[in-house]
Amino acid sequence: MITSHYVCRKCGRVEGTSLEICPTCGSKDSFDRALCSNSGMGERSVLRERRSYPSQTISSEPIKKLSDVKVTETLRYEIGLSEFDRVLGGGLMKGSSVLLGGEPGIGKSTLMMQVLDALAQKHNALYISGEETDVQVKLRSERLGLNAERINLFSSTKLSAIVDVLWRERPDVVVIDSLQTLSTSDIDSAPGTQSQVKACMAALTDTIKLLGITAFVIAHINKDGAIAGPKFAEHLVDTVLYFESAEGLLRIVRATKNRYGSSDEVGVFVMGEKGLSCVDDPSLAFAVEREGDIPPGIVNTAVIEGTRALFVEIQVLCTPAKSQNRRIYSDKIDSSVVQRVVAILENQTGLNLGFSDIYVNVAGGMHLTDPAIELPLAVAIYTAYTGDSLKKKTAFYGELTLRGEVRKVSFLSKRNRSAISMGFNTGVYPHSSEGDEDMEHISLQNLKDITNVIKKLC
Ligand code: TYD
Ligand code: MG
Repeated sequence: MITSHYVCRKCGRVEGTSLEICPTCGSKDSFDRALCSNSGMGERSVLRERRSYPSQTISSEPIKKLSDVKVTETLRYEIGLSEFDRVLGGGLMKGSSVLLGGEPGIGKSTLMMQVLDALAQKHNALYISGEETDVQVKLRSERLGLNAERINLFSSTKLSAIVDVLWRERPDVVVIDSLQTLSTSDIDSAPGTQSQVKACMAALTDTIKLLGITAFVIAHINKDGAIAGPKFAEHLVDTVLYFESAEGLLRIVRATKNRYGSSDEVGVFVMGEKGLSCVDDPSLAFAVEREGDIPPGIVNTAVIEGTRALFVEIQVLCTPAKSQNRRIYSDKIDSSVVQRVVAILENQTGLNLGFSDIYVNVAGGMHLTDPAIELPLAVAIYTAYTGDSLKKKTAFYGELTLRGEVRKVSFLSKRNRSAISMGFNTGVYPHSSEGDEDMEHISLQNLKDITNVIKKLC
């Protein structure tokens, strides 16, 4: 049966009839009509209402000066998992929606359970599972050592049932696991198809916004990295987080969109017996311990990820080409970047890499997108080919132009400090006034001079 409700757009109070003054928040003429049901039609009604909103009444809400907006209450929930708070931009914004994508088995449900448990200490938290049975969810929570008393659980794959539960229970925080398992009877196609995912996500975001619920929506991505189907869902949410595949038990969560913080911020975790724990110094986790000279093809650099610098190691191996065409194997650095850097290197130094297959890796398995990796990548390819070993612990940073000029990098002191903390005390980058007295600077203005620089370091 479809029932009609009136919802205060200010505070979310629900009434059977439209009231002139809201008894909760005192707003005038703030009730909008919303249709809802508990008979499987809820999602359709919400969708319909969404399309018509706000045609029924024209609001007389006054506009205000930005300066009159008062920020009084705490706007964020601090979760206490420091790396996760960091990716969210310093805690979870109240009322925000977060999409968490990642390959199956990487740890999405585990992370969300831990986050919900932390929030459940003070808030009403609901876990909606469409993917696993109640028993499976319980077993995971036992493995994680969580307090099962605190977390509310609802298992369903029907959007209508979920929308109804959200209206009824009004949790502060909800986790929906996962988007691809939901379906609405409005659409004939199977769960997980683009049209289902689209309709479900639209109805869910409407509901949570209307009710002011803070929500996490889990979505699977396929091997090539795109969220299967709901890539479009990214624009419906405030924050998009992806689990990046990393080596071994390391797990990297990256914010690719964040209305409330810096995008490209990463959080680094390690998966253990009792779930995910934060890695306090990710540079240490990515470091490769070795004694003596640095082997050919290994070059270190500091990249800026969000608001911090991370010290990483680029590894390159050159082998004789197995076919007439040279192949480049690189999944941590975009292979078109590698191709461009190889072309610049050949052009500037006369090196002929035409008969070499080139393998590129990043220790720890992090994806690197910072343009400052172009110089270290060029140097790694160079030494991999020539067999030069660096004696001095050296960090390289710089973006390359097609003519081989090395461009200045942003946040140089941040990068230098990160290198120094890892015991690297020589830096190769273009001339700069922003040096660091603990770092010996070797200036490199053009890649064509790389041979001289390498000689100094060997
Ligand atoms: P899961 O959170 O179920 O992944 P997703 O929701 O992304 O599909 O995590 C699955 C993997 O994590 C599984 O291989 C088991 C492992 N795991 C641990 O190593 N430790 C733990 O405490 C838990 C709960 C899972
Ligand atoms: Mg899962």
